[in-house]
Amino acid sequence: MSTDKPKLRSAAWFGTTDKNGMMYRSWMKNQGIPEHEFQGKPIIGICNTWSELTPCNAHFRELAERVRRGVFEAGGYPVEFPVFSNGESNLRPTAMFTRNLASMDVEEAIRGNPIDAVVLMVGCDKTTPALLMGAASCDVPAIVVTGGPMLNGKHHGKDIGSGTAVWQLSEQVKAGTITLHEFLSAEQGMSRSAGTCNTMGTASTMACMAESLGVSLPHNAAIPAVDSRRKVLAHMSGMRIVEMALEGLTLSKILTKEAFENAIRTNAAIGGSTNAVIHLKAIAGRMGVQLDLEDWSRIGRGTPTIVDLMPSGRFLMEEFYYAGGLPAVLRRLGEAGLLPHPDALTANGKSLWENVKDAPNYNAEVIRPLDKPLIADGGICVLRGNLAPRGAVIKPSAATKELLQHRGRAVVFENLDDYKKRIVDPDLDVTKDSILVLKNCGPKGYPGMAEVGNMGLPPKLLEQGITDMVRISDARMSGTAYGTVVLHVAPEARAGGPLAVVQEGDWIELDSAGGRLHLEVSDEELKTRLAAWAAAQVPDPADASGYRNLYVERVLQADEGCDFDFLVGCRGAGVPKHSH
Ligand code: FES
Ligand code: MG
Repeated sequence: MSTDKPKLRSAAWFGTTDKNGMMYRSWMKNQGIPEHEFQGKPIIGICNTWSELTPCNAHFRELAERVRRGVFEAGGYPVEFPVFSNGESNLRPTAMFTRNLASMDVEEAIRGNPIDAVVLMVGCDKTTPALLMGAASCDVPAIVVTGGPMLNGKHHGKDIGSGTAVWQLSEQVKAGTITLHEFLSAEQGMSRSAGTCNTMGTASTMACMAESLGVSLPHNAAIPAVDSRRKVLAHMSGMRIVEMALEGLTLSKILTKEAFENAIRTNAAIGGSTNAVIHLKAIAGRMGVQLDLEDWSRIGRGTPTIVDLMPSGRFLMEEFYYAGGLPAVLRRLGEAGLLPHPDALTANGKSLWENVKDAPNYNAEVIRPLDKPLIADGGICVLRGNLAPRGAVIKPSAATKELLQHRGRAVVFENLDDYKKRIVDPDLDVTKDSILVLKNCGPKGYPGMAEVGNMGLPPKLLEQGITDMVRISDARMSGTAYGTVVLHVAPEARAGGPLAVVQEGDWIELDSAGGRLHLEVSDEELKTRLAAWAAAQVPDPADASGYRNLYVERVLQADEGCDFDFLVGCRGAGVPKHSH
């Protein structure tokens, strides 16, 4: 082995001539790998979330092949390995239930194997945080390669957006303005190419978060999945990770508090998903970076949303890429002094600002000027009050302006089944000014904190043309969804948060600008109700065993990122004991 290269982790497997070294090499050689590949080349893991059950990531084998070419070209040796793939569209009770499981898989796979650096192949919502969380806990050099969004959906001569069209069309069919046939015929047109949701949903948001955090190459977020430039990006990422392995450019040098602040500001500018609040907290927690809900108010609020994408705006990810993609947004922010930390280091070894300072903007309708924003005061609003002592969030850009300050009487659903049963009841005591309250859909309650917070309106109000109401829950909401929806109420009902004891007819006040969520019930009354609630609790037998048992016992609340308590923190990439 040459001596001018840094000591690589993989040398602890392949770099000796004893019994162990012989064993590690010999079994790998059953794949036809020549001896010279074991002589000190960086071994690059390609951590792949390919799965036919994660349709958004189903094109990843081909994309991984492009990464592999890049790794070879730069003098590394690629080893592709699968990890748990959690696809948003199929996985029940929610892909979020397995985000932490996937992160454990990633962490242990990296640490236990002869890997010097890793390429994280991510796409569908939860795959991005899961892989970043796992890699962050190892603190190896890592680069994100996202699968890219689907082409624009096309239906009846119009562009339709992933997810967003589902919510819109399903409300229309319930309101009787379109036929069932028309509704179902949108299926193929909405998803007409490989890739992730083409709206600014959670997948696109997390891709933008990765790029603004600096853990991917520029343009990683927006290049369409089927655009040949996505293959080029994968190839270049494969080349770059070999250099990163040799430079020792580990994640902790990139994922600093400053990087997270850049990402929070970026989230506001793009009109990103509320799910980012939970995922960034979880990633930061793995890196030992302190991130608080208040950071979202402090850094995000007041930032204009300048990306005009559904669900908040008009366009889709294809237009976003053709308009200049995330670099054009970051340049706009930077020129206005709105990039909190332009000097933050990124995966290519340059600062965020160096990467974007000359980025062109080809379409000022899609990436708008700061003085003609889609929403003047974007960002995610953090709420607190006696109904959410540890916080809740609302995304004003996806809400109805008039409802952001609202006082109304609660219509209470104890859980999702109760909601489904009663929401269709023509005798349900509800008006457009009521506040729909949904309980027991949080991390422990659902379990997994499903994306059901944007609960559909009562059909009888939809028929009257009502399109939005205030809704409050401990659930999440799909990044593709919209409405005046208060989410992530913490503590959740199941954990004994005040949400658990809201009663039918209680008055609730939502004051988004003031960051307040108040249940108009005295402290004393609230205490009495909570004591009665606690006394009436019986354990759910479904929680007694299996992964679900681990989940409900160890999952943290939304304000803490919903990680497992025992996974928080960085455990490094120290080489474990020999296996034999
Ligand atoms: Fe996979 Fe939206 S469902 S990205
Ligand atoms: Mg989603």
